[in-house]
Amino acid sequence: MSPKLWGDGSEEGGALLDEFNASIGFDRVLYKEDIEGSIAHAKMLAAQGIIAQSDFAAIKRGLTQIKGEIDRGEFEFKTADEDIHMAIERRLTEIVGDAGKRLHTARSRNDQAALDFRLWCGRQNEAIAKALVKLIETLNAIAKEHTATLMPGFTHLRRAQPISLAFYLLAYAAMFMRDFERFESSRKRNNLSPLGGAALAGVSYPIDRRATAKELGFSGVTMNAMDGAGDRDFALELLFNASLAQTHLSRFCEELILWSSSEFGFARISDRFTTGSSIMPQKRNPDAAELIRAKTGRIYGSLIGLLTVMKGLPLAYNKDMQEDKEGVFDAVKTLSDSLAIFTEMIGDKDTTFNAEAMLKACKRGHLVATDLADAAAKKGLPFRDAHHLARKAVAFAEQKGVDLSELTKDDLARVDRRLADLAPALDVFESMNARKSEGGTAIDAVKTQIAKVEAWLQEAKNA
Ligand code: ARG
Repeated sequence: MSPKLWGDGSEEGGALLDEFNASIGFDRVLYKEDIEGSIAHAKMLAAQGIIAQSDFAAIKRGLTQIKGEIDRGEFEFKTADEDIHMAIERRLTEIVGDAGKRLHTARSRNDQAALDFRLWCGRQNEAIAKALVKLIETLNAIAKEHTATLMPGFTHLRRAQPISLAFYLLAYAAMFMRDFERFESSRKRNNLSPLGGAALAGVSYPIDRRATAKELGFSGVTMNAMDGAGDRDFALELLFNASLAQTHLSRFCEELILWSSSEFGFARISDRFTTGSSIMPQKRNPDAAELIRAKTGRIYGSLIGLLTVMKGLPLAYNKDMQEDKEGVFDAVKTLSDSLAIFTEMIGDKDTTFNAEAMLKACKRGHLVATDLADAAAKKGLPFRDAHHLARKAVAFAEQKGVDLSELTKDDLARVDRRLADLAPALDVFESMNARKSEGGTAIDAVKTQIAKVEAWLQEAKNA
């Protein structure tokens, strides 16, 4: 039996408190980072003459064996070990004896926990960024095929103006590109080693923090020991970035749910991502999209949870900070799974858009009203007056029971003679293709956007 680090009390109360105090139940996820960190630390201690090279050799051998034991599921995790750091050190001492007891020289669990978690978060940032690249690539590939596919663009969920499907997809690509950049910039900002900060104030041994940082792939070391062990902003950034990326996914999912309903009929989600109803044989429910939409809540919960844990905490380490992990683990899994599933779903060959239904929808709701007003304004009429005339034309079409795009030259002349020769402005395709301003929906403007995404993807992959 290893001596209890903390707590006393009755058998029962002690056991409950041990459970309550322990993080071994969840921080075991960090075992690889913990072992890598310890090997780098021991190597540096030996290089600096703080421990013997033979101790380092024994520590490395022992830790490598432990990694194998955990990898294979043979390692015995005990609540009495409290956390992954103590568990590994306990086992190390069992295997290599006194050398194991020397590992914790010039280190505290405070900088050790911060190190492991920073390493882990940095790696997750990278993995998520890669998944975002894949999604952006997928969207861009679909967009390329649909620069001339019309669909109604909405504001207030009311049909507004004709746009292309490519333009719509690229709006999401732009959001996910910013998400990628947020993960990347967080990774760069936080890729600093806190190791050597020890409990809070640094150590009196002649350590080389930069050597361990370099060994572990960090770009440098944290400036201040108290901050290094006492803040969790890197985890909060990850949670915020995840919250926002999941927000973007949730909006896309919401639209796929709407577009694939019989009310819209714009899209069909591949059967692989829908389920039937246990009672209504005709149903194809968009479960995957609904779940991605819903899971946004748990990521927000984790963000608010950790912000609340950190709020008002005195420096430096407090046990409160042990509550930093579960929400982050859950958020990373949720976002990673959502990205993988969404990318598969949108890229599936059986997820399709119904060009005919979308074109039909462009011809209901007077989507070309702005174009009529613009055409009149381009002929010299002040835009406000042109707007007024176009409204009159809409009212006329409504009376006639047709869409504005269906009015004839004669109809327009009857509304106002100044509109007489503006019938070409009522074509829905021309309406889409006229918006050539930079970033607009016209085919050429969208092709420029596609080229930008392609250049961006090249750079992102080389980063
Ligand atoms: N299990 C702890 C955590 O996750 C490790 C640090 C403990 N440090 C301490 N002084 N109790 O935060």
